[in-house]
Amino acid sequence: MNKSNTGLYSLAGLAAGQTSEAKADETRPWEKTTVVGRPIPRVDAYERVSGSAEYPSDVSLPKMLYGAILRCPHPHARVKSVDTSQAEKLPGVHIVATGTTPGFDVRWYYSRDSYSKIFDPLCLFEGDEVAGVAAETPYQASDALRAIKVEYEVLPAVSDEQKALDPQAPKLREKGNRVGEVEKYSRGDVEKGFAEADVVLEQTYSTACEIHTTLERHGCVANWEGDSLTIWESTQGVYGVQGGVARTLGMPLSKVRVIGKYMGGGFGSKLDAGKYTVIAALLAKRAGRPVRMFLPREDTYLAVGNRPPAHMKLKAGVKKDGTLTALEFYCLGTGGAHPAGGTSLNDNLVRDLYTCPNVRSEMTDVFINAGPARPMRAPGHPQGAWALEQMMDALAAKLGMDPVALRLKNIPTVSQAQPGNPPYTSTGLRECLEEGARTFGWDEARKKAEDRHGEGQEADIRRGVGMASALWVVGGGWPPATVIVRLFADGSVNLNMGASDLGTGTKTVMAMVVAEELGVDPNSIQIEHADTGTTQFASPSGGSKTVPTESPAVRAAALSVKKQLLESAAQDLKLAADDLEIQNGEIVSRSDPAKKKKITDVSALRRNAVVVGVGYRGPNPPNRSINPFAAQFCEVEVNVKTGEIRIVRFLAAQDSGRVMNRLTYQNQVFGGVVMGIGLGMTEERILDKEQTGKMLNANWHDYKIPTALDVPADMTCVPIDPHDTEANSTGAKGLGEPATIPAAAALANAVYHATGVRVVDSPISPMRLMRLFADRSKKES
Ligand code: MOS
Repeated sequence: MNKSNTGLYSLAGLAAGQTSEAKADETRPWEKTTVVGRPIPRVDAYERVSGSAEYPSDVSLPKMLYGAILRCPHPHARVKSVDTSQAEKLPGVHIVATGTTPGFDVRWYYSRDSYSKIFDPLCLFEGDEVAGVAAETPYQASDALRAIKVEYEVLPAVSDEQKALDPQAPKLREKGNRVGEVEKYSRGDVEKGFAEADVVLEQTYSTACEIHTTLERHGCVANWEGDSLTIWESTQGVYGVQGGVARTLGMPLSKVRVIGKYMGGGFGSKLDAGKYTVIAALLAKRAGRPVRMFLPREDTYLAVGNRPPAHMKLKAGVKKDGTLTALEFYCLGTGGAHPAGGTSLNDNLVRDLYTCPNVRSEMTDVFINAGPARPMRAPGHPQGAWALEQMMDALAAKLGMDPVALRLKNIPTVSQAQPGNPPYTSTGLRECLEEGARTFGWDEARKKAEDRHGEGQEADIRRGVGMASALWVVGGGWPPATVIVRLFADGSVNLNMGASDLGTGTKTVMAMVVAEELGVDPNSIQIEHADTGTTQFASPSGGSKTVPTESPAVRAAALSVKKQLLESAAQDLKLAADDLEIQNGEIVSRSDPAKKKKITDVSALRRNAVVVGVGYRGPNPPNRSINPFAAQFCEVEVNVKTGEIRIVRFLAAQDSGRVMNRLTYQNQVFGGVVMGIGLGMTEERILDKEQTGKMLNANWHDYKIPTALDVPADMTCVPIDPHDTEANSTGAKGLGEPATIPAAAALANAVYHATGVRVVDSPISPMRLMRLFADRSKKES
């Protein structure tokens, strides 16, 4: 794993502040828990379902204007002139801003050394920002956009990443369309490994570009008071947005406050600020009024991120007994028009999921005229799993070996991809495979499906059973994180942390950690979070690291309160502090339970009216790798006359360390599986590659995400907890991303089992499947 990979989720290099030096947290994980682990509904469930939760897109300020952005309709064009005169005359229009409007000549950095202007005269993708407006109503704002006259010089575009390096391809950069050097990795000697193999297979695979399609659209409300800016943004990390805006506008962090208490989905596309954030701030400044800027749905398809497409070739060698001897992987990908990690982490599973002494990979990232990628739920991994896990399935078939057995043969104990080959703090891959297969009834289901093929009245319906496994590159979390817990005079508690709750249950899990230590009802805890003005520093909620990063800091803060309380009570009661414990709002002596004192009567609390505990996230254990693992199993029915697939059932066995809350855990896993079903079966950004280069399905009707009808009613979550006592003081590893990694590959393997047809290009649409059936019939006849 190179540094730039973790950079997706840390704020490395950003000007965001850290509150204090992290101290090592020596606390061991709990052996037994009374609150943590239970299936407790979200502490904010009522607010969420009743509509009283205020999402950033609900924020409405007095005198607020509505912002809108004019976007380039061409994938590649030069703006020759912009005429705003008509737009400016329209009723309700306050500002029409272009690249030449004073204050708007600002650089937006897509990466550390690559920028475009906020309104750049050179448009590199359909949806590139050309002008902005602010008006009294959203309708007036959109009328104003239509009244702006832009003269474009349309330039030839390249929309197909596989043609980007052709000599005659239009160039996005003077140097050409290559993004940096080819990323190369190698260990051992692959030629020797292939020579030692009894079976060698080689196959190309591809995954389509996916869009995040968050329920709440991207955007914010921006408001200035003097030279201080406040932004309510739908974001995964308020500090990330703060840093991005401050840097872009040359402001001190202390003058930019970002609030993001609820948010409706990010999946990696809201880890930091967007151009829209800065445009909203600039419009608000010029108008002297608050500006609300939430993007229309179509813009969220074009301009705020995607999971980039991947074109992969994998060659694998294996001995008769199933021992992998060599893996060789090539990948071509694109992050679109700006350096956006077009191939980031695609080879990580090839490098790290199975024991293999000889591995080589090469990844080529190119520019094309399309919207820039952003991290999307487990960047690179579902793509890599699509290739590797289908290859494992094919190897097993060739060897006449069970697919689960083949994987069990190659379980790693150390991270081979990292320097020094650090051992994993815990690895539940074996348990995921064994326990998953057992609970699923793998052997019986495989056999039953094979026995039924082509029988009776359902001859058109073929049943198949498939599986795939995964690990996730990070998921151990890391410092910094600072948390404050306050115990009030009446015994109630306030938890203050900067992290965003993406809807995954972060607040709930953290409240449970406090409840575990202080013996209060998690629902009674007041939680203040995701506000750079009032809460502590946290890195963005991403990388499946929020629980493993924040929960040890929360526990440390709660333990600090507890320690102060017990020490004060010990003085009050004239007992040793280590003889005392908290029980139902009282401090009780373990040796003599008759000796006790109400928490609210303890001197420390009576004296100061509050006990404050500060907790820091300590460093991770040295020379260890912390990774979540997974194995997923599914059963499908394929109609060989129509190509339709019905997913009968899906089971996910996940090792993410301790289960902090059985209910939110299961929610995460089901959500991950559903997203994997989308990658495998329905989702695809379609660009008009041969002609206009424009996206043809930039809407929720033509871009298909799985609905309730595509998701099996029979879903099972099997948590595997190999008791990680090393990773951190709560024993939890990340969950959100590993849950989505193997799902699509498991489906593809099930479709192969059902039909004998291997679908190597995603998504497995009925149309694609029917074409493959037809190709097969042609070959056979
Ligand atoms: Mo992410 S891609 O962990 O937000």
